[in-house]
Amino acid sequence: MLHWTYASPLILLTTCIGSLAFPILPGTQRVLDVKQKDAQVLILGGGVAGVIAARTLHEQGIDDFIIIEARPELSGRMMSREFGAAGNRWMVELGANWVQGTQTGNGPANPIWDLAKKHNISMHSNDYFGRVATYDYSGPSDFEDVFQESIKNFDKLTSLAGARVPKRLVDMTARSGYSLSGTRPDSPQERAAEYYQFDWEFGATPEETSWLASAWAHNRTFREFSHENLLSIDQRGFKTLIQEEASAFLDEGQVTLDSTVAAIHTTKQGVVITLSDGIELAADYALCTFSLGVLQHDDVEFVPPLPGWKQEAIHSMAMGTYTKIFLQFPHKFWFDTEMALYADHERGRYPVWQSLDHDGLLPGSGILFVTVTGDFSRRIESMTDLAVQGEIMSVLRTMFPNTTIPAPLDFYFQRWHSDPLFRGSYSNWPANFLSEHQVNLRANVEERLWFAGEATSKKHFGYLHGAYSEGREIALMIAECIHGGGCLGLEHVERVRNALPYDIA
Ligand SMILES: Cc1cc2nc3c(=O)[nH]c(=O)nc-3n(C[C@H](O)[C@H](O)[C@H](O)COP(=O)(O)OP(=O)(O)OC[C@H]3O[C@@H](n4cnc5c(N)ncnc54)[C@H](O)[C@@H]3O)c2cc1C
Ligand SMILES: *[C@@H]1O[C@H](CO)[C@@H](O)[C@H](O)[C@H]1NC(C)=O
Ligand SMILES: *[C@@H]1O[C@H](CO)[C@@H](O)[C@H](O)[C@H]1NC(C)=O
Ligand SMILES: *[C@@H]1O[C@H](CO)[C@@H](O)[C@H](O)[C@H]1NC(C)=O
Repeated sequence: MLHWTYASPLILLTTCIGSLAFPILPGTQRVLDVKQKDAQVLILGGGVAGVIAARTLHEQGIDDFIIIEARPELSGRMMSREFGAAGNRWMVELGANWVQGTQTGNGPANPIWDLAKKHNISMHSNDYFGRVATYDYSGPSDFEDVFQESIKNFDKLTSLAGARVPKRLVDMTARSGYSLSGTRPDSPQERAAEYYQFDWEFGATPEETSWLASAWAHNRTFREFSHENLLSIDQRGFKTLIQEEASAFLDEGQVTLDSTVAAIHTTKQGVVITLSDGIELAADYALCTFSLGVLQHDDVEFVPPLPGWKQEAIHSMAMGTYTKIFLQFPHKFWFDTEMALYADHERGRYPVWQSLDHDGLLPGSGILFVTVTGDFSRRIESMTDLAVQGEIMSVLRTMFPNTTIPAPLDFYFQRWHSDPLFRGSYSNWPANFLSEHQVNLRANVEERLWFAGEATSKKHFGYLHGAYSEGREIALMIAECIHGGGCLGLEHVERVRNALPYDIA
């Protein structure tokens, strides 16, 4: 669709001056004839960030864009799937499931909550710190007191972090923070309770996570919006929220599905995207919304390679993994609460259980799911489904020693970490990720290549609302660029030096 010609460097020099129409790919000595430029902006990836970026451009009067998405639908990590035996099938959420934080009084509202209301998403308030059934390696075991204590310990962790911030002290891991604030979990029950507060939210361990950023992120979502967690049980899928939003403004020609980006060529004058089938698309700007994990795994080739400051930022942030393993049984034999916690001798081994067969959720569904994270997720992704199912059945027999556990009717989990379109679930801020790295992760490369997604959000990394606000904010900057006839974009830090005080203000 595009026509390449070869030219001598001399001709390159003469053709490129002052012209947007002849972008030059450094080192390749090729001139791209972009008389058939495909769009002003190519939006790479059709998750929440990509769709909201497109909507924002549209609102700014820019409709000459194309969303390029590898999957057959828009939605990204809002991924719903039908699950269950014939005659008892239900839509379950493999990816994002909660609106996390709603609104307090007239304070700031979570934009995802606004969308959920707008599109009438059916949700259930999930009080996951209320009644939680507890089990350990000996069966049912009441350690509610340990559980309640772990909530206080997490509060101590976040408040002590807050005390460090005004004094501009440097960061440490959340494990150091826990230790300094007096929490040193030793028993399997204490470790499981801590896991529920920490790993289950961040998709990573306290050792892998920044103390200050985790405390700050927690406050930004749950104290600024609210402590409420609304679980989507919408049988159209939670993804309806973004798909309905998209269909309200998108035209057919503005989306290309089933199209995988293989390479991104950037010059000072424009961007050329090569799809895996060899098709090329040219534009003035590209907005890359691929997950941090995709960028880390070199699934997409950047030509020229991304600058050093960008690569350093990409590899300093971390990608957590959060895996929900679904089981459907012929009848319900488990706890009456929504949530249960299982303390294994091994921290992180099938710890958090959720029943969907519950009033207000999906009664009669026979569906139970267990969540694992981080290394344990990566471990089970390398195993067969049957082997994982076998381990889970043995844990259930431990939790319910006097019950004959029926064979599951259906079993499924999504392998997020191995998936080349995701490479994990959501980003997590490690202690070695400095404020300057954050600036660089978000910054554009040259004037042409921009980045947005949950991982570029300083306040709300990891969350749907982070993807939303970044899609919007970065698209506003691109729109300003287009309306202004060009721009430099965001500043970056060329060389990140040793630990400036943490800047999270
Ligand atoms: C298991 C799980 C549970 C979660 N739970 C919650 C929750 O309860 N609440 C919450 O707020 N957040 C949750 N999240 C996080 C939330 O889903 C993400 O923050 C958000 O969806 C990210 O949106 P995004 O647009 O930044 O990225 P994505 O949704 O990843 O969008 C990027 C798009 O790019 C596409 N793509 C990737 N590579 C290519 C390529 N080479 N060519 C073309 N297209 C490509 C992908 O298919 C994808 O559609 C969860 C995530 C997971 C995985
Ligand atoms: C919203 O959803 C509820 C149930 O999920 C349904 O009863 C109601 O009619 C819906 N309202 C609209 C406006 O679609
Ligand atoms: C988080 O909020 C609590 C309560 O307002 C506060 O005590 C703490 O300092 C805050 N922590 C951070 C890191 O902002
Ligand atoms: C299981 O059965 C044994 C023997 O009857 C009994 O002692 C034990 O309390 C039961 N455990 C549970 C969890 O019901």
